[in-house]
Amino acid sequence: MRVVVLVSGTGSNLQALLDAAASPDYGVEIVAVGSDRPGVLGLERAETAGIPTFVVGLKEFESREEWDAALTAAVAEYEPELVVLAGFMKLVGERFLSAYGGRTVNTHPALSPSFPGAHGAADALAYGVKITGATLFVVDAGVDTGVIISQVAVPVQDDDDVESLHERIKVVERQMLVDSVGRIAREGLVVSGRRAAFGR
Ligand code: GRF
Repeated sequence: MRVVVLVSGTGSNLQALLDAAASPDYGVEIVAVGSDRPGVLGLERAETAGIPTFVVGLKEFESREEWDAALTAAVAEYEPELVVLAGFMKLVGERFLSAYGGRTVNTHPALSPSFPGAHGAADALAYGVKITGATLFVVDAGVDTGVIISQVAVPVQDDDDVESLHERIKVVERQMLVDSVGRIAREGLVVSGRRAAFGR
């Protein structure tokens, strides 16, 4: 399955996918990695793995719509069957969703529907929950509202700060992402209303 991965930062989730995709049994070919920010470690990781990269920065465009159209066109050049947002910190727009809705997935460091948005780990810690985690979902027009593909739980420890909690979440988040993207490639994904299941 041809996959384009979009990142905005460190790219540890991307690295986990690159490592998995090195094995042909995994069933995924990462055909390109894109970012909304130049110079991020995620792009470097892709270059090291010999994978084409592109950057479509929001500031280069007069409107969000134009940026979204350019992002969609850049992704389309690689003809992906699935787009994975792996720490991509921008909301995709209408154009992107009309081209790739239903075949774009995103990972969020909280247990949806709790704590949507850019600060999932911090918000869970501040609220005082004892269990949080990570969620993989099918991207829709909302903020972390899409149909849930998988979730993993992570207990909050008394001495956690945002960094320690987010790092522990990221360990299981990467595993969940790798497992689920591989299953989507090999088995497919069926969505019925709010419910998603692997299979055809
Ligand atoms: C992940 O926890 C992701 O869910 C969140 O930002 C983090 C990205 O980490 N949105 P990385 O860039 O993959 O290391």
